[in-house]
Amino acid sequence: MSDTHVPEAEVSNALIPESDDSSDADSAVGGLTYASSTTSARSDVYTSVEEFGRTYHGYKSGKYLLPNDEKERDRLDLQHMLFTISCDGALALAPIGKPRRVLDIATGTGIWAMEFAEQYPDARVTGTDLSPIQPSYVPTNCQFEIADAEDEWNFSRPFDYIHGRALLTCFADPRSIIQKAYDSLTPGGYLEFQDGLFPFQFMDPQPPPENPLRSFLETVAECGTKIGRPWTNVQHYKRWFEEIGFEDVEEKRLYWPCGPWAKGDKMKKLGIYFMEDMKHAFEPVAMKMFVKILGWSEEKTKKFLDEEVMPLLGARKTYMYETVCFTYGRKPLNP
Ligand SMILES: C[S@@+](CC[C@H](N)C(=O)[O-])C[C@H]1O[C@@H](n2cnc3c(N)ncnc32)[C@H](O)[C@@H]1O
Repeated sequence: MSDTHVPEAEVSNALIPESDDSSDADSAVGGLTYASSTTSARSDVYTSVEEFGRTYHGYKSGKYLLPNDEKERDRLDLQHMLFTISCDGALALAPIGKPRRVLDIATGTGIWAMEFAEQYPDARVTGTDLSPIQPSYVPTNCQFEIADAEDEWNFSRPFDYIHGRALLTCFADPRSIIQKAYDSLTPGGYLEFQDGLFPFQFMDPQPPPENPLRSFLETVAECGTKIGRPWTNVQHYKRWFEEIGFEDVEEKRLYWPCGPWAKGDKMKKLGIYFMEDMKHAFEPVAMKMFVKILGWSEEKTKKFLDEEVMPLLGARKTYMYETVCFTYGRKPLNP
């Protein structure tokens, strides 16, 4: 397990499992059941690559692991709800004031960028991504560009606020992305990363290493390292922000239980959404990692996933959760 697996007092306060005999531990929350969201994203992806029955980005093909089809876009929009519910509707936790020029790197469906543009009508928001999966109709102060964040950044003017969310699987060297962001900010501007620790953690009772869900997560982490894109870097973001020169760096941690096992309506809602999110993420991850990297057959991978891993998502006494870190800092006025 990662070196962050021992739950701190803060985690214990945020995530309190319902007692076993609690009547609502496994039920829907106030009638809430998850229905797949529909996205208004257009379907004419310029180029795409098909594999395992899913489509993937064509530009710089193979760089990013997860698909870009409608199913994945729905998952990203659901994940956006997880972030906004956690933050009680706030799109940014940094004290950003009224930024005029805003960049959202690896924007995905662009849902954060569009909502930000609506909430901050005086801002000009640019979202970039490898995949052109953003809608055609967007707020007038929002625009999207296809760009690889690992390439040199050539923006004509600096930004007041740069945001990156759910990017733990994306970069070979996230520190270099933080450096590019620093270089592309105005003095006094903020960078904010909102990202989860991986592998996910468990509240007690800790599952044994042979637990299929735990071993799945650890194998995925090993594969990420093997392909040169470690998924375990979020724990270093705060230190990297500070080393690069950001001031007043903060890291706020929020928690997403997987399944409706934690006390409180908000936690239960997050638990249902996060479980749905992971149900849709695990299969494409397994196909890419287990089949392509470890050389398992598709059949063996699917069987392991369907029969051993998935049934543990939200299972009784399996208290898996994700720690989501909101890391932000300010570029000095006199860098
Ligand atoms: C998990 S999604 C997160 C999307 C969005 N930030 C959000 O929170 O909804 C990761 C996104 O990063 C994009 N991505 C991955 N590597 C990238 C890169 N090197 N440059 C730009 N975008 C990248 C993917 O195409 C995908 O849309």
